[in-house]
Amino acid sequence: MAKVKRVPLIAGNWKMNLDHLQSIAFVQKLAWTLKDANHDFGVEGAEVAVFPPFTDLRSVQTLVAADKLEVCFGGQDLSEHDSGAYTGEISGAFLASLDCRYVLVGHSERRTMHGETDEQLARKVAAAVKHGLVPVLCVGETADDLEAHGPSAVPVAQLKAGLAEVSGTPELVIAYEPVWAIGSGKAATPEQAEQVAARLRETLAEVLGDDVAAATRILYGGSVKSGNIASLMREPNIDGALVGGASLDVAEFASISRFSKHVGT
Ligand code: 13P
Repeated sequence: MAKVKRVPLIAGNWKMNLDHLQSIAFVQKLAWTLKDANHDFGVEGAEVAVFPPFTDLRSVQTLVAADKLEVCFGGQDLSEHDSGAYTGEISGAFLASLDCRYVLVGHSERRTMHGETDEQLARKVAAAVKHGLVPVLCVGETADDLEAHGPSAVPVAQLKAGLAEVSGTPELVIAYEPVWAIGSGKAATPEQAEQVAARLRETLAEVLGDDVAAATRILYGGSVKSGNIASLMREPNIDGALVGGASLDVAEFASISRFSKHVGT
């Protein structure tokens, strides 16, 4: 199948790493590295985004604006509420006012360690869209799910549930992150990732129609590195990557972002 042109997205989820001072040094170095390598942003190359901790966002925003860097950024989570008595929560409105373009929703670490439910995540997806942020909805099965239900059942069910509160033609990104591949050093094979990504795109078409399905970027996440990105990106339904550990190394993350220059990997 010919690959449909969607702007690839290489996204770095820093998780709870790098404080605001480290974030400035990192983003500056990343932008320089990409520039030195003549990275094409947009259709020919990849859009590059980082997801720093909340406390870094103001610093990253200031740096990106001052130096006109072509690096996007977003939050790692948002509240389903707009404002009010929700101690410790962060409103999508606050992220939007810091020029965040994206926000992660339902990362497996939020689902498992913070007990976030599909219903709550559907409200977070709707809150992101309401505030003009592009939700990056994360879905993925555990090793037990894989054994019990096969590869697609759980991610497809999570996607359907996560879209329950949106309608029309919202801009979305879906990240397929098999839980067994996160931080394990054992990425899904390109064939495995493509199989699930294709089912996720069919699900998008069923729920929100063909146009949204064709426009939505589906990322793969889980032990992505410079050595395996090119083969993943050759799959027709994989439009980018959500990178954890390898996104904390500037040279490695820049190399992943330049996947189209890798030959034979
Ligand atoms: P790793 O790339 O470290 O496996 O993490 C993936 C991830 O959780 C990105 O959100």
